[in-house]
Amino acid sequence: MFELVDATKRYGPLVALAPLSLTITAGERLALMGPSGSGKTTLLHLLAGVIQPDEGRVAIAGRSTETLRPGRDLARLVGVMAQGFDLVPSLAVVHNVLAGRLGEWGIGRSLLSLVFPRELPLAQAALNRVGVGTKLYERTARLSGGEQQRVALARLLVQQPRAILADEPVSSVDPARAEDLLTLLVEVAAEDGRTLIASMHAVPLALRYFSRVIALRHGHLVFDRATTAVTEADLTALYDLRQEEARDVR
Ligand SMILES: Nc1ncnc2c1ncn2[C@@H]1O[C@H](COP(=O)(O)OP(=O)(O)O)[C@@H](O)[C@H]1O
Ligand SMILES: [Mg+2]
Repeated sequence: MFELVDATKRYGPLVALAPLSLTITAGERLALMGPSGSGKTTLLHLLAGVIQPDEGRVAIAGRSTETLRPGRDLARLVGVMAQGFDLVPSLAVVHNVLAGRLGEWGIGRSLLSLVFPRELPLAQAALNRVGVGTKLYERTARLSGGEQQRVALARLLVQQPRAILADEPVSSVDPARAEDLLTLLVEVAAEDGRTLIASMHAVPLALRYFSRVIALRHGHLVFDRATTAVTEADLTALYDLRQEEARDVR
């Protein structure tokens, strides 16, 4: 589904991502871990085709991200759940959800859906699936953080990409709701065999909900393993914690 070959990203003198090569198979459930500033968002943006590497290459489903047109091509392949959700707060929920069709419809028809949402059943079904079916006409700004996250997921359901990339999807909700949201995210991805890649701040949640972990530190790969093979020593090295603390976060 994704292939990076010596992909590098720099911001001026800062190496946000040192040359990285990896392959991610369709249907994988992968967590990106590492301290703040380690390059997780940069890697997600490269995988999403939102930014291009300075060196090396990134391919999605066998096609270089440089040749994928934003909008239609890219929207069918990857759906992004940005940190802070990227919803338009002043709009009703239904319009934010139908924005997921932007890639298919183009701007004209999508704007039309703002005036007259003809695809209401599509939006309603997606909102039902993520448990906020009663919020169709609610102003998005009035929803809680967790509800807005669900609306962002409903928008992805409507978009139907082959992979979901989520940037710290549960960092703004309380621990109990974080579990609910991750369960939902994993279920929704699994239903259609979608690849799921999420940057995760909370180590225990990353280990519980994902099957593979890619860990970064200062833009360098620290380890890339099956979750079941991640050790306390791995986590200690990653976060520079003392042993006892590593045991606690696990
Ligand atoms: N647009 C940008 N311009 C300059 N520096 C950036 C930009 N985006 C990210 N960085 C820097 O790149 C490094 C990696 O950032 P990021 O990928 O956001 O890390 P993470 O998501 O793990 O916190 C950080 O040092 C950050 O300050
Ligand atoms: Mg980040």
